[in-house]
This record gives sequence, structure tokens and C-alpha cells, in this order.
Amino acid sequence: MLPLSSRSGAQPTQASQAALTEEVPYVQTPMHVVHRMLQLADVKRGDVLWDLGSGDGRIVIAAAKSGARSVGYEIDPNLIAESRTKAKIAGVSELTQFFEKDLFELDFSRPSVVALYLLPEFNLKLRPKLLAELKPGSRVVSHEWDMGDWSPDETFTYWSAAKPHGTQKEHRVYLWVVPAKVSGRWRVEIARSEADSGTSFEVAIEQRFQRLTAQASRGTVRWMQLRGRGIGFEWHDGSKPVRLEGRLQTSGTLQGRNWKASPIRE
Ligand SMILES: C[S@@+](CC[C@H](N)C(=O)[O-])C[C@H]1O[C@@H](n2cnc3c(N)ncnc32)[C@H](O)[C@@H]1O
Repeated sequence: MLPLSSRSGAQPTQASQAALTEEVPYVQTPMHVVHRMLQLADVKRGDVLWDLGSGDGRIVIAAAKSGARSVGYEIDPNLIAESRTKAKIAGVSELTQFFEKDLFELDFSRPSVVALYLLPEFNLKLRPKLLAELKPGSRVVSHEWDMGDWSPDETFTYWSAAKPHGTQKEHRVYLWVVPAKVSGRWRVEIARSEADSGTSFEVAIEQRFQRLTAQASRGTVRWMQLRGRGIGFEWHDGSKPVRLEGRLQTSGTLQGRNWKASPIRE
């Protein structure tokens, strides 16, 4: 990244400085990459997008143009002022807010989409808070930097000869969907159908981010996937594999069209 640009009043707090060796410089995401970030995160009316380190407000303003309520947090007061002016010119002042605030002092229970263009160690420091506080199904979209061993659900790479910094002339965009917490033991009940008599078994799920592995008390689970609250797996017992797809309900059960799983309390 570029060296830190000169700016007045940009003072990160002690909280953000702990264990971080570098400050995040002000570098803009090119507008074509901004549009791809919003597209990948499927930003639309009804979403609440936060950009952490919002620069001149471009991601916030573009998200507001898609109908999302959008908030920028930025430590540089000059950039906050510039963002407000730009939002006014774009006619989206009503849908946007900009706060001079350290991104490490936020509570992430409100946004449905979080946008990042920071540095790798900032992403890693934010990761536990994002996973703990964002609602399952919320999206995190990052320009350039990943989240270590939390692998993205989707990525997009642009080749760009015009990229002003770095030796690799490409822009990477990463998307993560915050996974619901489904680890533990479950009692699965498959409803009786015209074709068979229904059945039940237990399954023990181990979870690392969105990656799941499972052991069934009977038969085998050969494939399992999680995206937000949506879960799918294939259970094999005897000849015919059974494909089960459903969602984690607010009641705490997993439920699909013809099956349900309830947590087994230890
Ligand atoms: C690489 S720029 C990204 C700007 C904008 N999000 C974009 O993509 O065009 C990172 C921004 O984060 C801001 N920043 C750095 N540390 C911060 C912190 N602790 N809290 C809030 N903003 C911060 C910087 O001032 C800078 O404007």
C-alpha cells in the first residue's frame, strides 16, 4: 500500500493500536471494484451496510444508491467532511451517516453487510468480533485482504494495469457469509413419506467457521455445507443417499421440508 497520506487529526486510539504494527493508509477502492464488492455482497434495500475506514465515503454512497442504509466510520475528520459533501451531491444524505470513530470501538449487532479495505492484521483482529457479533447470514466483503484461515465463500479477481500500488496488478474481492453456530449433537428426524416410513438418528457436528464435519450414530454423513443459517447435508444409510436441506430457525432447531433436527443438551 501507499505510505500514509498526510492528514490532520487522524489519531487511532490505544485499542486499535494494540498488536497492530502499521496504520492503514488512505487508499481509495476504484469505483469498478466498489460496484463488484456491492454486487458480491448482494447489497440491496433493507440492508444496513457499514464501511470500516470509509475514506471519502465512496462505498457508503454507492450502497445508499442501491437503497441500503449505509454508515461510514473513519478516523480522519477531513475525510468525514468530504464524505458528507459527496453524499449530499449524490442525493443520498438521508440514507447515509458518517462518524469520526475508531473501527475497533464498534458493536456489530446492527449491520447486515460490513465492507473492509484495511490491512491483513486489521482483518484478523476484527475477525473474532465480526464472527461473534454479526447476525448469521450477514456478509463481510473485503477489498484486497483475506481473513487468514477463515476461507471466503466467494472471491473475485480483477486484472488491472492501472492499479497504482503493489507489484501484482490485480484487485481481489473476498466475500464471507457469517455462519450460524451449529456445532454439537443433534437428533435428526426425517418425516414419513409415501416412499418410506421415516427415520431418526443422531449426528455430532464439528464446526470451524463455515466448514462442518459430522458423525452420524447410524449411516454416514458424506457431505455437509453451511451458508449463514442455511444448512445442507447428505446422509447415507444402506443403498439410497438422502439429501437434507434446511435452515437454523430462531427457535434453535434445524428444519427442512421433510426433516427436523433438535439440539441434544448435554
Ligand atoms: C485503505 S482506506 C479505504 C477507504 C475506503 N473504504 C475505500 O475502500 O475507498 C482505509 C481507511 O481507513 C481509515 N482508518 C484507518 N484506521 C482506522 C481506524 N482505526 N478506525 C477508523 N478508520 C480507520 C483510514 O483513515 C483510511 O481512510
